[in-house]
Amino acid sequence: MTQNAVGVDFAQRLTDNPTTAERRAAILEDPGFGNYFTDHTAVIDWTIDAEGRGGWHQARIEPYGPIAMDPAAAVLHYGQEIFEGLKAYRHADGSVWTFRPEANAHRFNRSAKRLALPELPPELFVESLRQLVSVDREWVPNGEGEALYLRPFMIATEAFLGVRPAREVSYRVIASPAGNYFGGALKPVSIWLSEHYARAGHGGTGEAKCGGNYAASLAAQLEAEAHGCKQVLFLDPYNDNAVEELGGMNIFFVFTDGRVVTPALNGNILHGVTRDSVLQLASDRGLSVEERKITIDEWRASVADGTLAEVFACGTAAVITPIGELKTAEGSLVSPEPGPESVAMSIREQLLGIQTGAVEDFHGWLTRL
Ligand code: COI
Repeated sequence: MTQNAVGVDFAQRLTDNPTTAERRAAILEDPGFGNYFTDHTAVIDWTIDAEGRGGWHQARIEPYGPIAMDPAAAVLHYGQEIFEGLKAYRHADGSVWTFRPEANAHRFNRSAKRLALPELPPELFVESLRQLVSVDREWVPNGEGEALYLRPFMIATEAFLGVRPAREVSYRVIASPAGNYFGGALKPVSIWLSEHYARAGHGGTGEAKCGGNYAASLAAQLEAEAHGCKQVLFLDPYNDNAVEELGGMNIFFVFTDGRVVTPALNGNILHGVTRDSVLQLASDRGLSVEERKITIDEWRASVADGTLAEVFACGTAAVITPIGELKTAEGSLVSPEPGPESVAMSIREQLLGIQTGAVEDFHGWLTRL
């Protein structure tokens, strides 16, 4: 058992077959994104007792491995699932830090409410990350733009086929060493405009981080890949074709007069932690930031009249990735490759600098793990 600041004991069962140092070093040479997993996982169960009170119990660290689950588990049938994504960064002195974990904990609980799952105390969320990183610390990479991606998630494990919120739930955290989400060196990506599919509907689960939103994006993602694009852009066809977000990241526009614009959080859009950090860092620089509706017509018009300077995607996985081209059935909207002085690249450098301890964290965004 390991006691900790939140007073919850995490039982520890370590793997008998840890990855060898040689194999881990080979993986960390070029981890890519989401390909490899560390040796352990953090788990906490939730059940409802005879009096109808729900509670979290049996916090533990276990060897990483398949989850034994009843084939009738609700998550397998009704998709009652949520997840998060955040990263652990190695600093020059070897210490390991994470970025705004309380923001992820808060968003996790918003998602939990929407999917009728139990909320997890934010301190327990952060402690679960600390416990996992403490046993898999060697997996935190230190290459440029690399980090240990942490994936907390919650699934409905109760074996019951009636449609109602499950009474047995499992919270887990897995970890995966990560480099550039799009593979290789950072370069502008092409994205495809989805005109047949929407990602979210009003009153739906658009702003929740639940697997179903990502599953719903995949048919459009296939279309994107068929057109040589890495990601898909979704519009809201019931709101003047307003730009919403990409399959797995938020989107930003920078205009030649210095305005930085991103779609407003209207219930359909993920409350990105990177999105929020970019807004803060841009306004720290005195740039005017606008969270508002931006339509595909405005995007087209601003390319036509030369007032659009940059477009970029952002998210924990993508960090900040410039968008070089929006491909559509009617033709392409091209953005020039951003130089180091661009808003995208300079905020990316500042953000990575804060996360890796090279730049002062004057907002107090880092938490030591
Ligand atoms: C993230 O940026 O953390 C995401 O969750 C995006 C994607 C990998 C699903």
